[in-house]
Amino acid sequence: MTTSYDTIRAVLWEDDKLKLLDQRLLPQQEVYNEYQDSDAVAQAITDMVVRGAPAIGITAAYGVVLAVRKRLAEGGSDIVERLERDFTHLADARPTAVNLAWALERMGKVLFDLPEGADVERAMIAEARAIHEEDIAANQKMGELGAALIEEEGYGILTHCNTGSLATGGYGTALGVIRSAFAHNKISRVYADETRPWLQGARLTAWELVKDAIPVTLLADGAAAHLMKQGRVKWVVVGSDRIAANGDVANKIGTYSAAVAAKYHGVKFMVVAPTSTVDMSLASGDLIPIEQRGADEVLGLGGQRIAAEGAEAWNPAFDVTPAELVDAIVTEKGVVLNPTTEKMAAMMEK
Ligand code: MRU
Repeated sequence: MTTSYDTIRAVLWEDDKLKLLDQRLLPQQEVYNEYQDSDAVAQAITDMVVRGAPAIGITAAYGVVLAVRKRLAEGGSDIVERLERDFTHLADARPTAVNLAWALERMGKVLFDLPEGADVERAMIAEARAIHEEDIAANQKMGELGAALIEEEGYGILTHCNTGSLATGGYGTALGVIRSAFAHNKISRVYADETRPWLQGARLTAWELVKDAIPVTLLADGAAAHLMKQGRVKWVVVGSDRIAANGDVANKIGTYSAAVAAKYHGVKFMVVAPTSTVDMSLASGDLIPIEQRGADEVLGLGGQRIAAEGAEAWNPAFDVTPAELVDAIVTEKGVVLNPTTEKMAAMMEK
């Protein structure tokens, strides 16, 4: 971890065990939970102990290691069927982030193509570690590519949700660009939407930036347009959970309204995501499954009810920003300006 402004890791494989920093407890408590069972890993993803598209994929890859270990220890002739059930259980943990399916497919390819007599568990650990390390390397590359797009110096940047070390293998996607731009003295301050209802901005992004000594100012999501009107930010920089073939971007609920407001105010809109987040099988964002989460997240705060008794809640966890509102998609393979299906396909073929 030599990169500047980068000290946090949320997913660890240590002593042949998976350890996850419990993001439900941040910023009050920093607790790593240990996992030895893939069903418990699937539950941790569903419950958002770990969250953020790339981090979910990496965690699921380590979950496969645990499944393989368990099924090999059990033995029996239906081991393949039981492993397939483990894969399905992990895949069903959350629907929107395509990194989950991507990582499972990659692990499955290695597993089911292993030669006779191979050390299966070692091979699975090696692949999961490769997915993890490649994600950090991709983030560092995207950090440089994205920071290079920010020309005017000394302004603030607005971000939404948490896209940092907590949401990835390390360094972050949008927050990686922010880390890199800050290291190059290009930005003065990060404005972070608090990101209702789960408060990833207030609880996680603010924690991460304070920890790495990058100045951060929180704002209510509804204050973002007013911030843009005041000319305090020149770029909105966000991550993604799934990008369709035409460049439509699914990301945390509230991203779409930030993009609409950015267009109106002449503020540029950048999406930073590894190619493991790009789903070329979906022609447009209309086809991306949007996770609906429990009403309690909207009706309460910190486990305490705040809404009037009797009120109901609608809680889509993600929205889709149309490609026409996106100025740049930054991946580790390169930058796509004003994305279209043709430009996305050319980038993915590199
Ligand atoms: O519900 P979450 O917290 O998992 O949602 C996370 C986001 O929407 C992030 O912006 C996205 O995964 C990109 S993170 C690198």
